[in-house]
Amino acid sequence: MEQYVIKGGNPLVGEVKIGGAKNAALAILAAAIMTDETVLIENLPDVRDINVLLQAIEGIGAVVERIDRHTVKINGSMISDVNIEYEYIKKIRASYYLLGALLGKYKRAQVALPGGCNIGSRPIDQHIKGFKALGAEVRIEHGSIFTEADQLMGNHIYLDVVTVGATINIMMVAALSKGNTIIENAAKEPHVVDVANFLNSMGANIKGAGTDVIRIKGVEKLHKTEYSIIPDQIEAGTFMFAAAATKGNVLVKNVIPKHLEATTAKLLEIGCDIEEYDDAVRVIGTGKALQHTHVKTLPYPGYPTDMQPQIAVTLGLSQGTSIVTESIFENRFKYVDELARMGGDIKVEGNTAIINGVRKYTGARVSAPDLRAGAALVIAGLSAEGITIVDDIVYIQRGYECFEEKLRGLGAQIERVNSENEIQKFRLKVG
Ligand code: UD1
Repeated sequence: MEQYVIKGGNPLVGEVKIGGAKNAALAILAAAIMTDETVLIENLPDVRDINVLLQAIEGIGAVVERIDRHTVKINGSMISDVNIEYEYIKKIRASYYLLGALLGKYKRAQVALPGGCNIGSRPIDQHIKGFKALGAEVRIEHGSIFTEADQLMGNHIYLDVVTVGATINIMMVAALSKGNTIIENAAKEPHVVDVANFLNSMGANIKGAGTDVIRIKGVEKLHKTEYSIIPDQIEAGTFMFAAAATKGNVLVKNVIPKHLEATTAKLLEIGCDIEEYDDAVRVIGTGKALQHTHVKTLPYPGYPTDMQPQIAVTLGLSQGTSIVTESIFENRFKYVDELARMGGDIKVEGNTAIINGVRKYTGARVSAPDLRAGAALVIAGLSAEGITIVDDIVYIQRGYECFEEKLRGLGAQIERVNSENEIQKFRLKVG
């Protein structure tokens, strides 16, 4: 099992380039099998979740050709199987996007039912409600969801909760259903828009993505396209908080600043300076003490739940008491006990964390409980006095490409290691 070993205390300074959005890419890769023609996808992040999904897509008979690390060609004409095994779903929940993609294209699909996950229970009732509204039968048997339809017909669907996954899954099915579909109370996240743009580039007719009403006119079939995925707002935000927590000065490049507004607003509130460019954002955290603030996670354009651990770790170093409320997932404070081992002072009550700022963290051995919490613990390690070892970094590798290399490019002392021996060597090297 690999670990990160970090010698904290260096302000991060320099420039970092952000990759393609993992969560957009997961849905777009699934949607790529919806045509029999070849689709070229660029700006793909080279992270574990993406590579597992590509294996799942190959597993059902699609041809996947890796052009380079960030570019792939997919041809779904040879798909022979509409059954996605539990082996994939247990590694990566988002393989459930193949449910919508396969149902839309072949009018039937079978996907192992995703269970709960580290950040809490994750129901899929809204996906099922949408599929049924479009005319599909849905059965849950032997741990899998079976869905099929004689004919898929557009419908008016109101989502009871704002959900990214259900919005995208329903959009994919509706793209190839007969007639018109209206999704109300749709998720507005940038990756919902990216998936709609991708489907439209394949000949779909989707309007309103990015608002809470999406209108879809079904088309007969989809065709080939070449498409470049949007930048990853969560990777960008993670580096922005790393700059703030280490009192550094970082230019985060290749981003869409509009997608980062909730993050930049909070960084300004806690006392960082922000410079915005067309496709870059600079975070300057030097000089002054960080101030406390309050934050509540909400669907986009609210503050993202995937950035909650990163801001909490930063607020843990700010003057005063901050309150962080998690309103999307119930189990997203697992990093708090780990951070306590580094000197953090955070009390969790229900879905609220009360954070009393401390002057500094001190290095300790901690364990990444999930993807974003793991990244947040790395931020804590980068700002801490002494050496931090982060175990279970396999979670972090699910969503961050070359995380340690990018951080080293900003002056961080961090290495990916595989044994106690290597940890010892790092200790000797950094003194
Ligand atoms: C996606 C992101 C995840 C992010 C989340 C919220 C991907 C691969 N993952 O997850 O990183 O944290 O959006 O921005 O894109 N819900 C229901 N019924 C459903 C579906 C969802 O009640 O059928 C609830 C969930 O329990 C949660 C809320 O809706 O409380 C939002 O979930 P959702 O937006 O669907 O998250 P995901 O798409 O799974």
